[in-house]
Amino acid sequence: MRIAIINGPNLNLLGKRETDIYGNMPFEEYLKNIQKKYPEVSFHYYQSNVEGELINELQRVGYEYDGIVLNPAGYTHTSISIGDAIAAIKTPVIEVHISNVHAREDFRKLSHVSGKSVGSIFGLRLKGYELAIEWFISQ
Ligand code: DQA
Repeated sequence: MRIAIINGPNLNLLGKRETDIYGNMPFEEYLKNIQKKYPEVSFHYYQSNVEGELINELQRVGYEYDGIVLNPAGYTHTSISIGDAIAAIKTPVIEVHISNVHAREDFRKLSHVSGKSVGSIFGLRLKGYELAIEWFISQ
């Protein structure tokens, strides 16, 4: 099984960015843990701060992989084009947010991604990525 994890802007700063909201662990370290935890899965990880690059990556993996775990970060709330890319590709996408976007500012309550995804997970910190992976494994 092949799963792509795609992270959007500022998630390269996990571990040093607003640690009260996003925690202390850099994503690369977390990724090592999940690679160990799910040895049967082949993971591909991609992070970009650039909207078009995220769309290119969704299109690139979106016909080949079994699942995509996507945290579009701030683009969740602004990017019609990322929503369109999810609708265009064949691979199912699960939207993940580390924080509970519904318990924060009102502008974070809008997602252009939720309606195009098979499901959404928010507020469960990094554990949300594992829950998304487990859903794909269970299919
Ligand atoms: C986030 C939530 C977004 O609102 C925010 O812009 C992020 C991270 C999260 O994982 O909680 O950058 O996607």
